[in-house]
Amino acid sequence: MSVDGAIDLFTESFGVRPQVVASAPGRVNLIGEHIDYNGGQVLPMAIAQRTWVAMGSSGRSTSQAVSASASGMVEFDAGSPQRSGQWWDYLHGTLRELRGVGRPTSVQVAVTSEVPQGAGLSSSAALEVATALAGLVVWNGEAESAREQLATIAHRAETEFVGVACGVMDQTVSAFAREGHALRLWCDSGKREHVPFHRAVLIVDTATPRALRHSRYNERRAECDVALHELQRSDATLRHLAHATPQAVQQATLSDEVRRRAAHVVGETRRVGEFVDLAMRGESVGAVMLASHRSLRDDYECSSPELDWVVEHAMQLDGIEGARMTGAGWGGCAIVVGRESALRELSQSIVPEFASEWRRAPSTWMSTAASGARIDWVPTA
Ligand code: GLA
Repeated sequence: MSVDGAIDLFTESFGVRPQVVASAPGRVNLIGEHIDYNGGQVLPMAIAQRTWVAMGSSGRSTSQAVSASASGMVEFDAGSPQRSGQWWDYLHGTLRELRGVGRPTSVQVAVTSEVPQGAGLSSSAALEVATALAGLVVWNGEAESAREQLATIAHRAETEFVGVACGVMDQTVSAFAREGHALRLWCDSGKREHVPFHRAVLIVDTATPRALRHSRYNERRAECDVALHELQRSDATLRHLAHATPQAVQQATLSDEVRRRAAHVVGETRRVGEFVDLAMRGESVGAVMLASHRSLRDDYECSSPELDWVVEHAMQLDGIEGARMTGAGWGGCAIVVGRESALRELSQSIVPEFASEWRRAPSTWMSTAASGARIDWVPTA
């Protein structure tokens, strides 16, 4: 998959060359899990796997799209509020948002992607952000000045059109990440900081069905709202759960379950700062990653037996520094950091061992921090 693949697919499908190819990456979150919608800090990084969107204006009233991983050409009216429940909803939702900011939106689109779908690596954010960037180029000519809008357009497509109540982390890192850096994001103010991060990360997908992920996610969000409202009874100035102190969480009148959710949130947002300080000093981030995993497993209850197994298994090997689940959880991926040779060994050995334990083959990828959305190709004269 590459820029050329997207240009070829576009040309074969529509008989003309595209006006632009833009791409955007998937992501892992290094630490700061279930924090974005609680107004705290997160530290995701873009991964090497990207999605490419080749686009040109269609000259008709509807849009058409093809994807290398789906058969056939689809046609839809980007102005319509009607979802299909299919892959092009991400495209459709993003084009609809672009229309909302004054861009006409009848286009032809060809998509190629190496971001695995359904693994919790934000393939949807990658598609939305790449579509938004390509769209801004098609209608603006240049997109750098409009780049600030990318994450907002993509996030609105996901929440308003596709209907997933996610936080801002995935679209923001896909839009703004910088190669060799993790992105520290303060989700209350939107402030961003690029944190140098040159370590390799091993990503292990536990290949678990994702059926319940959305409902569980919404359930946790609701529990966090309950905690926030209760804490606001004694501190009316508290705007986000992540701003509460551990003491306030312990003293508030909360059910045991809701108190554990809140304890995770206030602890995890602090761990982001610790992780950044340790990484900047070149020290081990292992202990803080493990503390994050334990908190997600025991207090937030969003891990899975497979994810716990990967973390425990990885930690038994020499040269491994730390491991934790990443993303929403209830399946999906774990990340492991450590010496690169140890990660490479683990990426081989874990596949048969996981398969014999769980009767499912996991996928593994190595990645360093990659760049965010970019324009990969425009025609030369
Ligand atoms: C999903 C959501 C993100 C974030 C993570 C948990 O990936 O899309 O917004 O909430 O879960 O940290």
